[in-house]
Amino acid sequence: EAFFKPIHSAAPPSPTKRHTKISVIGAGNVGMAIAQTILTQDLADELVLIDAKPDKLRGEMLDLQHAAAFLPRTKIHASVDYAVTVGSDLCIVTAGARQIPDESRLNLLQRNVALFKGIIPPLARYSPDSILMIVSNPVDVLTYVAWKLSGFPSNRVIGSGTNLDSSRFRFLIADHLDANAQDVQAYIVGEHGDSSVALWSSISVGGVPILSFLEKQQIAYEKETLENIHKAVIDSAYEVISLKGYTSWAIGYSVASLARDLLRDQRKIHPVSVLARGFHGIDGGDVFLSLPAQLGRGGVLGVTNVHLTEEEAQRLRKSAQTILEVQNQLEI
Ligand code: NAI
Ligand code: LAC
Repeated sequence: EAFFKPIHSAAPPSPTKRHTKISVIGAGNVGMAIAQTILTQDLADELVLIDAKPDKLRGEMLDLQHAAAFLPRTKIHASVDYAVTVGSDLCIVTAGARQIPDESRLNLLQRNVALFKGIIPPLARYSPDSILMIVSNPVDVLTYVAWKLSGFPSNRVIGSGTNLDSSRFRFLIADHLDANAQDVQAYIVGEHGDSSVALWSSISVGGVPILSFLEKQQIAYEKETLENIHKAVIDSAYEVISLKGYTSWAIGYSVASLARDLLRDQRKIHPVSVLARGFHGIDGGDVFLSLPAQLGRGGVLGVTNVHLTEEEAQRLRKSAQTILEVQNQLEI
C-alpha cells in the first residue's frame, strides 16, 4: 500500500516548475564549498557530485544528505561516472591541482589541462545544452580550454574569473570607508590572478564616484593607498593559502551567486571570464578574461560598455597578453 494516498481518484498532476540540475566536478575544498552554498540557497532540485576518489566522494555525499532535515529538499547524487550528470543545466568544474604556498595559478596549467581532457568531453556529451562554469586554475586559460574541448558556443562557457577578486576589492574598499560592501560598485577585470586590473575610474559607493567621495569626506587618499588596496586583492589568495592551505568560502559564495543569476535569469552584471577578443582593443587571439558581463538563463547575454581610462585599457591588454603567452604554449 502506498504511504501517501491520493486525495482525488485521478493521479496528481505532475509538477509544472522547471527541474534544475547542477553538477559539481571535483569534491574538494572548493567544490564542496560551492555545493553547500547551492544547497543552503535552494538553487537546485538535483545536485550531482563527481570526483576521481570514490570513497571521499561517497563520504561527502552522505555528509550533505544527512543535513536534509535542515535544508530545502534537493536530490543529491555522487558518482565517478559522468552518466549521472546527464541533462544538467549547469556544470561547475573545480577538479584539479591547487597551488602550494607561493605557487602562481599559471603554474598549475599543464596538470589541469591534462585532467580537463578527461572531464570536459563527457560533460559536453551528457549535457549538450548546459552552461559550463570553470573554476579550476588558472581559470582564464582553462575556460578557453573548456570552450575548445566542449565545442559549445562561447556564451555558454564562463570562468568564475574576477567575480571573487571584485568581492575582495569591495570588501577592502568598504572596510576603508566603514561602509557596506554591497553598496560598493567596483570591478576588477582581466586575469584572475597576478595581472588583474582594478577599474578605479568607475568605482562608486551609493552612486557617488569614489574619487570625489573620498575628497569630499576628506579621507586622506593617495594613488598609493589605492594601489595598495589592489595589491592586497592580488595578495589575498596567497595569504589565505599560506595560512589555511587553500581558499574555499569566498569562492563558494561567489560561484553560487553566479549559479543563481544564470539559472534564474537575473540579468545581473558580474565580472566573469568571457571570450574577450575585440573588446577594449584586445586582439592577438581568442582569449578569455574577465569583463563585466550580464548573466541570464542563456549564459553570457552581453558585455557592458564600461568606460576605461587609457591606462586601465593598456593594463587590460597587457593582462590579455600575459594569458595569451601561456595559452599559446598549449597543445589541446
Ligand atoms: P582539492 O585538492 O581540495 O580538490 C580537488 C579535487 O579534484 C579533489 O577532490 C580531487 O580528487 C579531484 N580531482 C582531481 N582530478 C580529478 C579528475 N580527473 N576528475 C574528477 N575529480 C578530480 O583542491 P581545491 O582547493 O578544491 O581547489 C580546486 C581547484 O580550484 C584548484 O585548481 C584551485 O586552484 C581552484 N580554485 C579556483 C578559485 C577561483 O577563484 N577560480 C578559487 C579557489 C580555488
Ligand atoms: C583564489 C584562488 C586560489 O582564492 O584562485 O583566488
